[in-house]
Amino acid sequence: MRFKDMGGSMGKIGNLLKEIQIFAKDGKMSSDRALRKQQQLNNLVYVVANQAKPGDRIVDFCSGGGHVGIVLAHILPSCQVTLIENKELSLIRAKKRSDELGLSNIWFIQANMEYFTGMFNIGVALHACGVATDMVIEHCIKTRASFVTCPCCYGFIQNTSKFNFPKR
Ligand SMILES: C[S@@+](CC[C@H](N)C(=O)[O-])C[C@H]1O[C@@H](n2cnc3c(N)ncnc32)[C@H](O)[C@@H]1O
Repeated sequence: MRFKDMGGSMGKIGNLLKEIQIFAKDGKMSSDRALRKQQQLNNLVYVVANQAKPGDRIVDFCSGGGHVGIVLAHILPSCQVTLIENKELSLIRAKKRSDELGLSNIWFIQANMEYFTGMFNIGVALHACGVATDMVIEHCIKTRASFVTCPCCYGFIQNTSKFNFPKR
């Protein structure tokens, strides 16, 4: 989903990403890719921010280094944001970034998201690998939570023990 005019939010998020040097510290992303990612982040965050109510629990599934969750925690201080990611190093990076911003409404869980059983109001996922996006959507539906997802580029789709494609 794309929005033509995001008003002040777009600049605010862009400035925040620069401030915490999300892309620069990763050091791997080309400027084209970083721009595309920032546009996706802006759009995703915009939708969640419009949906969220004070006190909501938001889960950033497959959070990686926290691109989405950290921005959400920063712009929605009355919400609780949980990052779930199975790679330890990515979460350490996310924690360091959130500490630098002084965030106190963010939590980190290192786990395969399939084992997450907590309640939440909004699930988000940006570029959750392959079928992980389908798993996030299924998890949100089961929990009766809203969801905002932007899948990764599917290099190929294969059936797994949990999912068969095409889905009907
Ligand atoms: C392409 S990265 C995207 C990271 C982040 N959302 C972003 O946009 O920068 C996908 C991440 O999902 C994580 N991941 C994939 N499957 C997962 C699962 N079942 N449970 C938890 N994390 C998972 C990977 O370790 C990886 O860090």
